[in-house]
Amino acid sequence: MTEKPLLRALKGETLPVPPVWMMRQAGRYLPEYRSTRAQAGSFLDLCYNPELAAEVTLQPLRRYSFDAAILFADILLVPQALGADLTFVQGEGPRLSTITRAADLAKLGPVEDIDEVLSPIYETVKLLRRELPADVPLIGFAGAPWTVATYMIAGKGTPDQAPARRMMYGDPATFEALLDRITEATIHYLLQQIDAGAEVVKLFDSWAGALPGPVFAKYAIAPAKRIVDSIRAKHPDVPIIGFPRMAGGNYLPYVQATGVQCVALDTSVDPAWAARELQPHTCVQGNLDPLLLVQGGDALTKAAKAVVKGFSGGPHIFNLGHGITPDADPDNVHRMLEAVRG
Ligand code: CP3
Repeated sequence: MTEKPLLRALKGETLPVPPVWMMRQAGRYLPEYRSTRAQAGSFLDLCYNPELAAEVTLQPLRRYSFDAAILFADILLVPQALGADLTFVQGEGPRLSTITRAADLAKLGPVEDIDEVLSPIYETVKLLRRELPADVPLIGFAGAPWTVATYMIAGKGTPDQAPARRMMYGDPATFEALLDRITEATIHYLLQQIDAGAEVVKLFDSWAGALPGPVFAKYAIAPAKRIVDSIRAKHPDVPIIGFPRMAGGNYLPYVQATGVQCVALDTSVDPAWAARELQPHTCVQGNLDPLLLVQGGDALTKAAKAVVKGFSGGPHIFNLGHGITPDADPDNVHRMLEAVRG
């Protein structure tokens, strides 16, 4: 039996045609997603309903021939499982109870209890392993501690993550204790996803680029390395994708220090630089501008082909530089796949 292309790329093979999937491939740009979400009631009801979460995970695979499925869930389920109040406000994004001082942190529950909330997610993983086509691997995921902490501290998404950065300067002990708690919960959560059937895991550090240079190693690399080492100790064969979004020049130290099998590149990364500096060490994933799936046309075809060509000299998984947006045209995804696969 030949191995799944995604897993071959993650082992360091250079393939003639890169495997393809898309961040947020199950999402609001698809009418069938909007309909299942309405049926579920709310976004969180959808995340915690294994049948419907499995259904929306499978929807993009019925339309398109992607080389991977990604579990439908959210990075903010971990804070919720630790005891934060979480809601998603329509059109505004997430709202959480805030962590502003040690007393707030003390109110969070222990890592051992998170499965009381998260067990439906493991159920979704099990369902998916039964229902997915044999040649499509399942990617599990979690948020990286810094990114998750930015939401827990501010209680919402923020343009520059200032509340978290201020706590980092003003109350480093509480800040570091929070990162530690999230790190431990994340290790537990990812190990449970793997036990349930996830074949690859991805760590989303969406706000890594907001960390000041002098603390990038401490607050982005060190927690990621702890997570990678803990997973590898139990599951040496499960590849890990790291996504330190907007890390710029810190992409290389991130790759070298964490030892991830693959690094996901945001839209700002120049393929020529990444091919030269990163690809000799690791598989790269990315990095088409998601806006091209709104724009379409020749610009999309040209840019997709340029990404393929730019990374053709080493292991590469074709993806976007960030998630596909709700205003993307589903037909443009076909155009992208044609451009990638010729
Ligand atoms: O990629 C996938 O298809 C898998 C599912 C997935 C979701 N969120 C579903 C989702 C994954 C991997 C995530 C990760 C996630 N969640 C990140 C990291 C990746 C990134 O985008 O940078 C972050 C920062 C979050 C937190 C989050 N979730 C925010 C800030 C929001 C609101 C903003 C938005 O895009 O609407 C969400 C909501 C969310 N998560 C949606 C989906 C499909 C939209 C919810 C809806 O249906 O209304």
